[in-house]
Amino acid sequence: MNRFHRWYCGTGHWRRHLTGTILPQALTDEDLGDQVLELGPGRGASTAWLKTVTGSLTSLELDGDLSAALAERFSDVEIVNGSATDVPFEAGAFSGVVCTTMLHHVPTTAEQDRLFAEAKRVLGPGGVFCGSDSLSTPIFRLAHRGDVMNVVDPDALPDRLRAAGFSEVRVTRGSDFFTFRAGA
Ligand SMILES: C[S@@+](CC[C@H](N)C(=O)[O-])C[C@H]1O[C@@H](n2cnc3c(N)ncnc32)[C@H](O)[C@@H]1O
Repeated sequence: MNRFHRWYCGTGHWRRHLTGTILPQALTDEDLGDQVLELGPGRGASTAWLKTVTGSLTSLELDGDLSAALAERFSDVEIVNGSATDVPFEAGAFSGVVCTTMLHHVPTTAEQDRLFAEAKRVLGPGGVFCGSDSLSTPIFRLAHRGDVMNVVDPDALPDRLRAAGFSEVRVTRGSDFFTFRAGA
């Protein structure tokens, strides 16, 4: 993430939008179960909210410095430094997988599809994969200058999730974001 992005993800403005609007929409009527994996926690706004709705939360972050800061902040969350395209857990280890506002940071479509396949692999039967990502607005594009910005097309997402093995896929558009859910 560039410096602006890293700063913004830690602000109250972003936390309120994420936890007041995006996460409630993404997780409406979803039971994540008691073993949840979060992909791309970043500064931890999503982590702080997710740990209140599940028994056990594990968060997998690519950036080493962010991982270290998260581990210091959350003593009750297992923070793992690694990539969501190569998840270091066994098949079926989780009841829910969540990622918010991180897919556009995965540089290629092939890597995003690998992430979807990994989410499917680590979910047990009846598990759910859900989350959100940003739509490409002018402010969003400005915030990502010099940063990875591989925006997901929400219209193409259902087929991509089904190709990864998911069923009962739903994608919903918000004002500047979309949410999705997919059953394992
Ligand atoms: C914009 S932040 C989102 C943080 C948080 N989920 C939120 O909604 O506020 C995206 C995070 O995804 C992380 N990330 C990008 N690619 C990743 C990957 N392949 N595996 C795990 N984390 C990744 C980035 O390092 C960054 O911390």
